[in-house]
Amino acid sequence: MHPTREALLQQLSSSNKEISGEALAHSLGISRTAVWKHVHALQAGGLDIRAEHGRGYRLYDDVLLASQLAERLAGLRIGSHCMLMPEVDSSNSELMRMATAEGGAVPDGTVLLAEVQTKGRGRLQRDWLTTAQHSLAMSVLLKPQVAPAEVAQLPLLTAVAVQQALDDLAPLRIKWPNDILCEGRKIAGILTEMRAEPGAVHAVVIGIGINIRPPEGGWPDELADIAGDLSSMAGKNIRRIDVATAVLRRLDALYNDYLAHGFEPVRQAWWQAHAACGQPVRVHNGTAYVDGIAEALDTDGALLLRTSGGLQRIIAGDLELREGK
Ligand code: BTN
Repeated sequence: MHPTREALLQQLSSSNKEISGEALAHSLGISRTAVWKHVHALQAGGLDIRAEHGRGYRLYDDVLLASQLAERLAGLRIGSHCMLMPEVDSSNSELMRMATAEGGAVPDGTVLLAEVQTKGRGRLQRDWLTTAQHSLAMSVLLKPQVAPAEVAQLPLLTAVAVQQALDDLAPLRIKWPNDILCEGRKIAGILTEMRAEPGAVHAVVIGIGINIRPPEGGWPDELADIAGDLSSMAGKNIRRIDVATAVLRRLDALYNDYLAHGFEPVRQAWWQAHAACGQPVRVHNGTAYVDGIAEALDTDGALLLRTSGGLQRIIAGDLELREGK
């Protein structure tokens, strides 16, 4: 994109009200006529920018710009390099391909945003819906010097980052292992993948999907009762760039702290934010249902479940809250 046009878009997308042509012209160092021409070019490209007589220009679309995210994350490890793809199969798959390609030198902390995913993936081989502007889909590349077994801690850390970063918009809880719920509806999910060999981790890709608003035409039937979105829950229109900034800043802080001090502070924060501490739950572990009381989170991310037959470690699966049942 033309650099002045991108700078103009950055300014418009940082404001929830009109900005005068004069103010834009001044900050961009161009004439008001040039501002008007750039706005026209952006409108011709399909963007919903409206001019209010006497008030200025306002952007109504939820625009994501990699340059804007990089500026907001300047100086942090996460976001040291930001990219945006209009359409990709899955941002996780694409970032992993880039990170592991022959001669590929994608730096630690790289963030890949995707407008649309044609094969967005979730946990347990499920699909993840990412249509234009409804959802924030982003993947983060990390190259931690930890043992492969410890990588299981990173999605839990990411869940804490999402929960803490967005909790002031809407009250959020974590559901084991790393679903983010608001009033019982899932508004975000995390998928972590790695390339490793025994004893050495080469690349970890953490994919974060956050529902910002319902998809155009509403949720598909199978998600209608379980999915939620941040804007509806917060009762206001939320922009993806603000969500991405808040989550990645928090992730950066928690990740640096984790590298310096280990997993225990994360484990405690995760437990405090968990939707079912000491409460009855049912877990489907892939083959069977296990009922019990959620007793603790183990250091490898396993859920410790107090069952009638004793304490069970649940490594993977789906958790259902049973309170009141
Ligand atoms: C889940 O709860 O099942 C995890 C969902 C993870 C979705 C994100 S969106 C960005 C990244 N790319 C993907 O294909 N999946 C993750």
